[in-house]
Amino acid sequence: MALRDKFSETGCKLEVKKMKKETSKWKSSILVITMLVILFVVGCSSNEAKSLDEITSSDTTEISANGIKITVYKSPGCGCCEGYVGELERNGYDVEVVETSDMTLLKEEYNIPRTMQSCHTAIVQDYFIEGHMPIEAIEKLLEEQPDIDGIALPGMPTGTPGMGGTKQGLYTIYSLTNGEAEEFMQI
Ligand code: CU
Ligand code: CU
Repeated sequence: MALRDKFSETGCKLEVKKMKKETSKWKSSILVITMLVILFVVGCSSNEAKSLDEITSSDTTEISANGIKITVYKSPGCGCCEGYVGELERNGYDVEVVETSDMTLLKEEYNIPRTMQSCHTAIVQDYFIEGHMPIEAIEKLLEEQPDIDGIALPGMPTGTPGMGGTKQGLYTIYSLTNGEAEEFMQI
């Protein structure tokens, strides 16, 4: 009985030794794995930073609305104008709102014919933007920098930014130069 106990004790000790050996093996492989993971992560993030840099440098031709200043002239209490301001802001524009009760004077100043007029007038760079202008049209204007005074989307068509509702058909946007209208684009 005693011999068997001793035997099993030795077996036990051997087992423990084996286990300890295995544990240290395991520990060192964990260490190796951890180091590999760290190397991988560091490698990845530097790669990521590089590709981000590449993206930003190659994308300079693309107009980003981020931070572009735009001033919106509107009469106080115009709800759809507020809606339009919100849409501009959502698209990254830096909007300044100027409330004026004399919108007619402003439209005369910019030579916007009565048939081209809408509820609000925005100014971006040297251009005026009349009405509920879709963002794509502003982007096209800023990208192409044409020799015109501004662009107008007459009336207040449903489905345009700030107007709500669904689009009923193509919007015709006009370019204006000294009060003369020409088709700028259709969306
Ligand atoms: Cu409106
Ligand atoms: Cu408006």
